[in-house]
Amino acid sequence: MATTAHPPGLETTTTTSTASRLPGFYRRSVDERRRLLGLSPADSAPFDVDGGLQVPVADQMIENVVGVLGLPLGVALNFIVDGEAVIVPMAVEEPSIVAACSHIARLAAAGGGFTTSADPPITVGQVQLLQVADLSRAQAAIDDARDELIASGNRLCPGLKERGGGVVDVRCRVLPRLPSDDLHGDLDDGGPMLVVHVVLECGDAMGANAVNSVVEGLSDRLAELARGVACLRILTNLADERCARASMRIPFAQLGGDDDDGAAVARGIVDAYRFAARDPWRACTHNKGIMNGVDALAIATGNDWRALEAGAHAYAARSGRYTSLTRFFVDEEQACLVGSITLPMAVGTVGGATRVHPTVQGARKLLGSFALSTTKLAGLMAAVGLAQNTGALKAMVSEGIQRGHMALHARQVALAAGATAAEVEAVASVLVASGSIRLGRAQEALATLRSTYE
Ligand code: MEV
Repeated sequence: MATTAHPPGLETTTTTSTASRLPGFYRRSVDERRRLLGLSPADSAPFDVDGGLQVPVADQMIENVVGVLGLPLGVALNFIVDGEAVIVPMAVEEPSIVAACSHIARLAAAGGGFTTSADPPITVGQVQLLQVADLSRAQAAIDDARDELIASGNRLCPGLKERGGGVVDVRCRVLPRLPSDDLHGDLDDGGPMLVVHVVLECGDAMGANAVNSVVEGLSDRLAELARGVACLRILTNLADERCARASMRIPFAQLGGDDDDGAAVARGIVDAYRFAARDPWRACTHNKGIMNGVDALAIATGNDWRALEAGAHAYAARSGRYTSLTRFFVDEEQACLVGSITLPMAVGTVGGATRVHPTVQGARKLLGSFALSTTKLAGLMAAVGLAQNTGALKAMVSEGIQRGHMALHARQVALAAGATAAEVEAVASVLVASGSIRLGRAQEALATLRSTYE
């Protein structure tokens, strides 16, 4: 289908990256980093407090606004996705996420980078029909009226239809009764239930508003056809017809460090994946690591990260057993670690906060063409999730997660103790050296530091 016209300011970007490898970037000041990314003062303005989301705009976005909440915005480097270099903006408060993602992207680049794909942008809305006396007759009536329902649905989303999208299918599902063990003491599970899925191609949007309008508009007719009563009319976040996939190969030589043998690290990562594949308790944390990356990019691009979270975890449980969203193995030549991921990825490049939030607009400029196509953005999201997960597993099977974490955690504790920007580094160093990253210790270190000023 045709894509939506590019939003103002994104047709030609001054900052589209031709290279994502910027050695020593982390050692630079914020201003130097902006210059290295090719950001002009005007490009960077939305990344400053007074250029980002302002209270009057926030007041138009949600109810009962009393302020705005900032999050650090970093960039993950080294990404090569389907042969293109891309700088990845990430909004997240947790230390190590941006570093881990950049690190794995650099190792994956040595194996050719990430290869991605994404399904067309399909959103599905559900209409729940109750009190349907004859489920077979109701299903047949809705199936017979499929063309009429698609045409009516398309009249409810005329803009989408004009851009080549719109309603493409209407399907019924009969929901079986719950097994008695799942009734949790309820004697009555409500009887037969028919659910109609309305399938919409939603172009560059995430599609929630469009599909919700369509199912609300079609529900009376569906109830009439089923001789029942419509109850819920809402999209499903289990976007399993809109998955994104990414894969990468990391040569063993890249995985080895000063003390680590690359082959052993690769096999450790495979064993760690096997743990998540078998065990839902581990899979939950494993998948949380994936979503650390996906959510950070979703927030930076103004996407609904709660929808992505819900979709990812429901997809991970689709077989009836919650499991890993990634997969790892060692290739036949015993030379590379191979990793892949598949997960629902209902992201948009128009609508929602994508056009309203000034910082999101700035972050989208960094993404260049990846901010202009939902399928490209979805593939990038999958690549970031895979990189994030690989980074966490690699750290856990080699030096452990805490070493990298501690330096930044110590900075946060120093800030919490009241250290100024000029004092943070000194206080954090004391905490790391003492091996005790605690608030009380930071307060003592700060007091000691300040006593030297007198
Ligand atoms: C922490 O935010 C994420 C990890 O727990 C992920 C994992 O255990 O795979 C490190």
